Amino acid sequence: MNDFSAEWLDLREAADARARNSDVASALQARLTLRDEVNVLDLGAGTGANLRATAQLLPTRQTWTLVDRDLTLLDVARTKLARWADSNSVDGEALELRKGSREIRVLFRSADLARETNALVDPGVQLVTASAFFDLTSESFIRELAKTVVATKAVFYATLTYNGLQRWTPHRPADNQIAASFQRHQMRDKGFGPAAGPLAASHLVDQFRINGYVALEGESPWLLERSDRMLIEELLRGYAVAATDEGRLDEKSIVTWVKVPRSAAFIGHTDVFAAPA
Ligand SMILES: C[S@@+](CC[C@H](N)C(=O)[O-])C[C@H]1O[C@@H](n2cnc3c(N)ncnc32)[C@H](O)[C@@H]1O
Repeated sequence: MNDFSAEWLDLREAADARARNSDVASALQARLTLRDEVNVLDLGAGTGANLRATAQLLPTRQTWTLVDRDLTLLDVARTKLARWADSNSVDGEALELRKGSREIRVLFRSADLARETNALVDPGVQLVTASAFFDLTSESFIRELAKTVVATKAVFYATLTYNGLQRWTPHRPADNQIAASFQRHQMRDKGFGPAAGPLAASHLVDQFRINGYVALEGESPWLLERSDRMLIEELLRGYAVAATDEGRLDEKSIVTWVKVPRSAAFIGHTDVFAAPA
């Protein structure tokens, strides 16, 4: 099982927002532009970063259901969204937000998506979305999800799916070995079966096309610079932990690797949009 702290999600939110692919985002915006309202399901919503970045692309009235298995993250999401909005109020279980011209009703749902996804994608859902989530899932999960989404004729938008590309500056020969270890670690079971990891975005595109949707993909890499120092350092630590866990490299070379100061990093992601043809 894997854990995501609110601090880690906070640290990456600005880089994620910068990285989103604008062509893929425009395709989503254009597809829903004639509607007055939209009902959105956000898978693996964490602290609500996807809502904060996507709401501006969507019609004026929005209802979001944020699903995550981690109740603590959903509690943080409630607080962060209330602060992010221009104004907020509570209506029973729902949080009502106003942000610019948008009126956003937010529902929070704690569920294990490895078991409950199909029940959540009900016919009322018009957009199924996720950010930084699908690399954790498996090829079979993606295959079933695509079928379920297509059956409801919902639009689909997945951002920031890790795609395996990475480059550190300055480069060190050991980067390639660490990357290989990290990749293997990424493909371990995260609760959905063997993880799709860097192949997740291409599985998404394939499965939506096989089921008759049009699908568009675009790169959304993190382009990290000196000003992202804290995120770079946290990433290096995370890669070192993953490589140690994999056990294929000697401890000393990992310790040496993690100490190399880096001034920049490129970490590849892919955004995917899919909709009925
Ligand atoms: C990398 S975080 C991304 C969070 C958020 N979408 C964002 O962009 O900041 C992945 C999220 O998926 C959630 N998650 C992982 N496995 C899950 C599962 N089986 N069911 C529900 N949520 C899950 C985690 O709790 C975490 O919040």
